[in-house]
Amino acid sequence: MKLEVDRGRLSKEIDELALISDAEGPAVTRIVFTPTDLRARSWLIARCEEAGLAVRQDPIGNIFARWTGSEPSAPAVGTGSHIDAIPNSGKYDGVVGVLGGLEAIRALRRGGFEPRRSIELLVFTSEEPTRFGIGCLGSRLLSGAMSAEAARNLKDKEGVSLEEARQTAGLKGQLEEVRLGKGYYKGFVELHIEQGPLLEQQRIPLGIVTQIAAPATLRMTVEGAGGHAGGVLMPDRKDALCAAAELILAIESLAKASGAKDTVATVGICDVFPGAVNSIPSRVRFTVDLRDISLARRDSILRKIEGSLQSVSAERQVSIQTEQLNADAPGECDRAIVEVLSQSCKKHQLMSIPMVSRAYHDSLFMSHIVPAAMLFIPCRNGYSHRPDEYAAPTDIERGVSALAETLATLAS
Ligand code: GLV
Ligand code: MN
Ligand code: MN
Repeated sequence: MKLEVDRGRLSKEIDELALISDAEGPAVTRIVFTPTDLRARSWLIARCEEAGLAVRQDPIGNIFARWTGSEPSAPAVGTGSHIDAIPNSGKYDGVVGVLGGLEAIRALRRGGFEPRRSIELLVFTSEEPTRFGIGCLGSRLLSGAMSAEAARNLKDKEGVSLEEARQTAGLKGQLEEVRLGKGYYKGFVELHIEQGPLLEQQRIPLGIVTQIAAPATLRMTVEGAGGHAGGVLMPDRKDALCAAAELILAIESLAKASGAKDTVATVGICDVFPGAVNSIPSRVRFTVDLRDISLARRDSILRKIEGSLQSVSAERQVSIQTEQLNADAPGECDRAIVEVLSQSCKKHQLMSIPMVSRAYHDSLFMSHIVPAAMLFIPCRNGYSHRPDEYAAPTDIERGVSALAETLATLAS
């Protein structure tokens, strides 16, 4: 079989999808079930139909685009990622796995490959946590990691529930129907940019992921006492923002002191109430994103954060509430698929190294129900979740070639 990736067409499609955005280019913002997200979905479905794939959407909006094999009832081979994008991000995160997956399928078709198992492109709903506070909504429901009931009740900042949002988006059926059977896929492979600098630094074109980090997200609310910025003397204050600041620095120190480079903690949202120049903050809400490749180490830091919270709360006379949005276990990639990926890279004379993924991905949840693995390509300076995220067309092409080869092996 002759495998030729159409690099030019794929680059054009990546650029075209990036224009469907709520941010001014080069930044991309595409939040789940906004009109922009819905336009991007329609655009993508049109590309899949043009490629001759049979498209369906499930009740949460996961898109399945299938190339039916000669044994349609055999478990299929899946590939894909996401097209939603956090505010002010770039055009490659998720998109490389979706449009690259589509190009891998087109390349196999052009090369005359005839799959025995069906090959399916899967585009997950809301990998990013922007709107509903928790990421990987589509794959959590597919894998059963989140119940339909819990998903229905998620609300965005405006109080719109996920259930209302998906119905307004025109999605039919019940969330209970989303879950996939364990035998649905023979294997699932996600192509993604590394979102870190290692491949670029080592000049290696491909990374084969063996483990995906364990993410936990907390939402913390600090309640102090507000008042006049001139009238309340310093010894009499219960400033919620000063308490939050102390806690945020304590969280940073705990992550740094873990002794492992795989421990990372981020406070990315901090809302101050009432938010006036001359008013002492009475309430602060902030999020904590804590990750590690070791579940035990991640959870030990969660317990230490609880300890810091108790001491800040006592010293500053503020109350602090914690809501745990998620605390997931790390994912193990399937050894057999890792081996197929490694052989595919060799066949295309592409060097690869095993890696861990410190970012989370839908493959983390897919790995609970089907054999799953991931393939990373380099991105410039390791930048991601920012407008200057960039992956070179030749690197994307290499990733798509190795992916297509892997899909062919798994589908034969
Ligand atoms: C995914 O976008 C992540 O935050 O790892
Ligand atoms: Mn992302
Ligand atoms: Mn991603």
